[in-house]
Amino acid sequence: MTTALITGATSGLGAAFARRLARDGHHLVLVARNKERLSQEATDLHDLHGVEASVLAADLSTDEGISSVEDRLRDRDHPVDLLINNAGFGNKGTFLNVPVEDELTMLKVHCEAVLRLTSAGVERMRERGRGGVVNVASVAAFVPRGTYGASKAWVVQFSQGAAKELAGSGVRLMALCPGFVRTEFHERAGMDAGSVPGWMWLEADAVVDSAMKDLARGRSLSIPDARYKALMGAARLLPRELLSKASSTTGRRFGPR
Ligand SMILES: NC(=O)c1ccc[n+]([C@@H]2O[C@H](COP(=O)([O-])OP(=O)(O)OC[C@H]3O[C@@H](n4cnc5c(N)ncnc54)[C@H](OP(=O)(O)O)[C@@H]3O)[C@@H](O)[C@H]2O)c1
Repeated sequence: MTTALITGATSGLGAAFARRLARDGHHLVLVARNKERLSQEATDLHDLHGVEASVLAADLSTDEGISSVEDRLRDRDHPVDLLINNAGFGNKGTFLNVPVEDELTMLKVHCEAVLRLTSAGVERMRERGRGGVVNVASVAAFVPRGTYGASKAWVVQFSQGAAKELAGSGVRLMALCPGFVRTEFHERAGMDAGSVPGWMWLEADAVVDSAMKDLARGRSLSIPDARYKALMGAARLLPRELLSKASSTTGRRFGPR
């Protein structure tokens, strides 16, 4: 049986990956900060699917937290076959009113943690000649959208570049770029999600199913759902100024700080 390690497994897309992978018979290592929630989830998935689900509480905005997950990924006695770098968040506000420390925390979780965990995971996968990594980015990677979009653009560029270098190694690397997904993300970021049109919302389980299909096909980039494939295609043709205006207003209303 294979083992999958998922960061940000307590809710939203991470929890959907955990459900799907447990159903497929993978043992799980669940990573996030909230140990109580992780433990409950591990028990539920074990009871439902009979897989081993262990818990690793780690704050990926700290060196200590990232190191503890790197150590787990380097453990030759308990190899990880599939790594899902999913943990992430949005800051409440835009560039002009978010403290720079909060933006740096975002870069630590979205970029540094993803880089270090991908490197640790891939190192062991290459030794075994097989494995996979999914780095959760966003369609925000393709539009001007502050530090969040910039961090996700880094995830896409890094993942696609590394995927090319890994060709022939037996290790697959893919950036996953969902549009708006119903999760805890928007509430946690203090966003007024009501400003997002209904047709733009995706369900987490469907996003994960689509991602797993693309990973199996060997894709290095996955944009779930025909609506977003079409939107991103159109975005490439729009003048940057217009794109910037549309992207900076969609889903970017925030409550009081
Ligand atoms: N929802 C969307 O519309 C959307 C669209 C595109 C991309 N995404 C991306 O999808 C990923 C998952 O987000 P989601 O929508 O599922 O949001 P979510 O429901 O808020 O889940 C975020 C997960 O990340 C964990 N997390 C946050 N900060 C962490 C930290 N410092 N260290 C460790 N774990 C941390 C949270 O758990 P704890 O609080 O327990 O640590 C939680 O499990 C993110 O990378 C996000 O940028 C989301």
